Amino acid sequence: MNTSITSVTKTLRVSWQDSVCIIDFHDESKSMNAFSRDILTDLDKVVSQALAVPGLAGIVMTSSKPGCFAAGVDISIFDSLTTQAAGEEASATLHALFQKFADAEVPTVAAINGVCLGGGLELSLACHYRICSSHASTQLGLPEIQLGLLPGGGGTQRLPRVIGVAPALDLILTGKKVDAKKALKLGLVSEVVPENQLLQRAVQLCKTNPPVALEKRKTGFGMLGQVRAKELAGIDVQKLALETNPIGRSIIERKTLEQIEKNTKGFYPAPKKALEALMKGLSRPLAEGLKIEAKLFGDLVVTPESRSLVHIFRIVTAAKKNPFDADAQKAAREQVINPLLSGDTFVGMLGAGLMGSGIATVLSDKNIRCALLDRDGTGVQRGLKNVQSYFDERLKKRRIKKFDRDAAMGRIVPSVDLSTFAATPIVVEAVFEDLAVKHDMLKRCEAAIHNEDFIFASNTSSLPIGRIAAAAKKPENVVGMHFFSPVPKMPLVEIITTEKTSSKAGSAAFDLAAKMGKNIIVVKDGPGFYTTRILAFLIAEALNILSEGASIEAIDKALEKFGMPVGPITLLDEVGIDVGAHIITVLKDAFAERIVIPAELESIIAEDRKGRKNGRGFYTYVEGKKDKPDTGIYKHLKHGDDRKHFDMKDIADRCMYVFMNEAARCLDEGIIDSTATGDLGAIFGLGFPPFLGGPFHHAQQLGYARVVQTLDELAGRYGARFAPAAHWKNSAR
Ligand SMILES: NC(=O)c1ccc[n+]([C@@H]2O[C@H](COP(=O)([O-])OP(=O)(O)OC[C@H]3O[C@@H](n4cnc5c(N)ncnc54)[C@H](O)[C@@H]3O)[C@@H](O)[C@H]2O)c1
Repeated sequence: MNTSITSVTKTLRVSWQDSVCIIDFHDESKSMNAFSRDILTDLDKVVSQALAVPGLAGIVMTSSKPGCFAAGVDISIFDSLTTQAAGEEASATLHALFQKFADAEVPTVAAINGVCLGGGLELSLACHYRICSSHASTQLGLPEIQLGLLPGGGGTQRLPRVIGVAPALDLILTGKKVDAKKALKLGLVSEVVPENQLLQRAVQLCKTNPPVALEKRKTGFGMLGQVRAKELAGIDVQKLALETNPIGRSIIERKTLEQIEKNTKGFYPAPKKALEALMKGLSRPLAEGLKIEAKLFGDLVVTPESRSLVHIFRIVTAAKKNPFDADAQKAAREQVINPLLSGDTFVGMLGAGLMGSGIATVLSDKNIRCALLDRDGTGVQRGLKNVQSYFDERLKKRRIKKFDRDAAMGRIVPSVDLSTFAATPIVVEAVFEDLAVKHDMLKRCEAAIHNEDFIFASNTSSLPIGRIAAAAKKPENVVGMHFFSPVPKMPLVEIITTEKTSSKAGSAAFDLAAKMGKNIIVVKDGPGFYTTRILAFLIAEALNILSEGASIEAIDKALEKFGMPVGPITLLDEVGIDVGAHIITVLKDAFAERIVIPAELESIIAEDRKGRKNGRGFYTYVEGKKDKPDTGIYKHLKHGDDRKHFDMKDIADRCMYVFMNEAARCLDEGIIDSTATGDLGAIFGLGFPPFLGGPFHHAQQLGYARVVQTLDELAGRYGARFAPAAHWKNSAR
């Protein structure tokens, strides 16, 4: 075949093969192709020129960037969409561009290789044919919902017409991605071919198949337009019947709405609007549906929820960059990370309890070997059982095969003897929260490990890393690596560096956490670091409100209404009342002037109330599950059973303002280096509501003057802990 490159822009390369025009995304300035204004302008120009060429046989959209067809719209475009009208217009502009592919008199084919998300998939849906490569990097999806938006490039209209209502809702409302195999099964692509045959096959399709735009197909909507006769056998006819008649579709709409209410608790407007766009559009011609989509996209783009989610996307992306200096990164890679990734050595996991077994699970899941050590066989076996149950569960859900489960278990070496660690470059410590035990383990590791430069990463939740490092021969190799429970689910690792921690140790901990798939914040050492400290202030405030006469359920409900996933009293039961009280006490030593703990907590603990783990807490437990508030606790508190009415907003304000204020003090003191770090830590470590964007973003949205004023008022009523941190006062100026 005769190929010639005819034009090149900064973002696109155009070549011809036997009268078929091949448009190749290739944004040279970026590692991923994203639809920037430049790329969209170039694409419009190039496709218009191609369509005007006499004898044109077809157009193929593809990408020569490895692993990336198009990752969606460039996020910076959203900054310029400051009004509803600007959002609506941007969506309509995309529609007009993509419509050129749909309206073409010649076949248009998307040849998808690598990630094809958001606008990338919407462009593909406008093409007459979509095929993709079988390469592992191929992933298709519409993740806009995760930014508080709906797909504004035709996705809510074309996807249900291509794959059917229910599967389209599933993709749009979850933002999930599907691989090539699943895309074929859904009818999202018509063929999956090996990577090296993709372009050739796309060109061939242009030559042999007619141009068929969605709206020109005989079947109005549903899957029939795409599905070939032999594939019909696999279709759920009942579901199809439900989708292709108005009553059936209204049932789907009602059920979906119920599910959305349940999942979002009314905090996120995007899923409802996406459902509305999809359902309204289905009973109208495509062009009208697209107008509805544009209008609703405009509505969403200016919502504070979307602004918050876009902010989170941005800070998550920025936080992926290792912040340590290049030499330290190189040394950490060579001495720690590469030997782990090659499987030559393993992580020494000290302690096989709740956290140790969780960390071992994630390490193994990410193909990193570890030795899991505890005091005795019983401890190790208990840890291994936890790991095994995680992989068994995944096997049951068919996420992995038996072979994968067995291989994952094989990556963990059980041990009761520290000599197993002799060759490890890094130990992650998760033994009891007791300084003497941690010192003892550190010294024993120093004696057992041959490499005297091994890194000792502690998972302590409250002990200052500097105090642990005080017992080390090489305190520069001691670093904090604070995971959250349950480790496989919680997406954050807080890395804590002391004044002595070397950049190499910090970098090794950072890269290891990144390989484990975690979001990472790097903070300075101090009592409770960042996350534990601000959470302790929140929980202490909740206990004060309880002590003043509020009911357990009123406090939890107030915070849930604010958007927290669980209330602070439930959380204390989950963490363990003993553990929580210990942490608050550690912090009390450091911040005596402002942390206030009700004296009654002692008598509650004296009653052996530990929370969920022993079935006795602020709540009662039936077969390990939270049941109802345990009113027996009120006898320890003022007002006894006669609980007072407290305003929900007052409760939430007190808890959240003390939390936000302490976060700002961490910034004032340099514990965190930026508001972005503070937002990430609170969202991913503590469940601060994502739709508010983190404590700092939330404060900015509220207005700093208002934050200072509210804190001043609260300080007047409740004391110094509410006195506005310098950060708020400076920002309000
Ligand atoms: N539980 C949480 O939510 C959480 C969250 C973050 C950090 N942490 C921290 O992680 C650490 C462990 O917490 P956990 O909840 O897993 O506790 P855990 O009690 O479940 O596990 C601790 C394990 O360490 C083992 N151990 C104790 N001394 C040992 C020794 N000398 N040699 C070998 N093994 C020893 C114990 O047998 C036990 O299996 C603590 O520092 C804790 O503060 C806990």
